[in-house]
Amino acid sequence: MSRIVAANEKAIADAAEILKAGGLVAIPTETVYGLAANALDGRAVTKIFEAKGRPSFNPLITHYPDAGAAARHAEFSQQAHILAHHFWPGPLTMILQRAPDCPVHDLVSAGLSTLAVRVPGHKIAQKLLSVCGFPLAAPSANPSGKLSATTPLHVAEGLGDKVDLILASGPAEIGLESTVLDLSGAKPVILRPGSITAQDIEAVLGEDVGQDFTPTENPKSPGQLLKHYAPETKLRLRAIDLNPGEALLAFGSDRFMGIKGGGAAGDLPESLRRNLSEEGDLNEAAANLFSMLKDLDKAGAAAIAVMDIPETGLGIAINDRLKRAASSF
Ligand code: TXA
Ligand code: MG
Repeated sequence: MSRIVAANEKAIADAAEILKAGGLVAIPTETVYGLAANALDGRAVTKIFEAKGRPSFNPLITHYPDAGAAARHAEFSQQAHILAHHFWPGPLTMILQRAPDCPVHDLVSAGLSTLAVRVPGHKIAQKLLSVCGFPLAAPSANPSGKLSATTPLHVAEGLGDKVDLILASGPAEIGLESTVLDLSGAKPVILRPGSITAQDIEAVLGEDVGQDFTPTENPKSPGQLLKHYAPETKLRLRAIDLNPGEALLAFGSDRFMGIKGGGAAGDLPESLRRNLSEEGDLNEAAANLFSMLKDLDKAGAAAIAVMDIPETGLGIAINDRLKRAASSF
């Protein structure tokens, strides 16, 4: 069983230490309990997906102590400023373009150019966020496909010792996830309904708000992502050798990868060769996935040959993303 502690000063300081060291902490928010990791630390973020058993890397919400901190990582339009002023802190998540030098790890936004930002309306969450000094990526603190956890006990029952600490602060007040509003397109669109409604937002903006609750592959988690990151370069999966002109995305040793017609992986220029994890560590591979795909996508190769990745644990989510990227041609 994981440690459940009442969220006093000492517990908040302990939680910040755990998060700083790359651990997972379940945190209270006004909507549901969140499973939090340092959003700047890719390895820490992989643990969220591992603990929830998510079969796919969907983008996560990044939590900030205040609007000023969020505005340093995302491009706030005029509308975003107005909505932040009106609804934050509170159960509204806004999808905005990432700021050019945004340090949030790209696994958090699943390789997309946008970022989901939110300032929770819960004193403990705000206190923890300001003590940490870095933003927290946090989906609801329940196993994938299960009901969102609204009490510390639910968190413990669902995630057990996969979470290092549970900061307890009674039942979540709202009990329903935040409204997700996409402000990255031509007009505002609600991607996930919540307690702040389209009418509430329209009243503040004086503009129509669209709704797009397109069901996804996992109907139990409504309002998941509509867009997937897709490279421009074709992907060739489960490659056991290379064609001339291909780039290599390796996993484990690439010592025995040959190039058809002569040569070996080791002869490739640096720009055409990446290794998700030389040790074959799936957490390391997950953290490297989007940045390495983007690097190789820039190299102008004929295709990207991807070595086989085991279909276990985080490998399932990695393969899911690779299959989507490969089939977008
Ligand atoms: O109330 C909440 O929002 C809770 C508490 C813990 O804050 N958090 C939560 O996070 O529900 P999560 O990560 O489970 O929800 C993320 C939602 C998903 O529907 C996801 O598809 C969408 O936000 N999302 C995140 N980033 C996105 C992006 N860049 N583009 C489109 N949708 C995005
Ligand atoms: Mg959820």
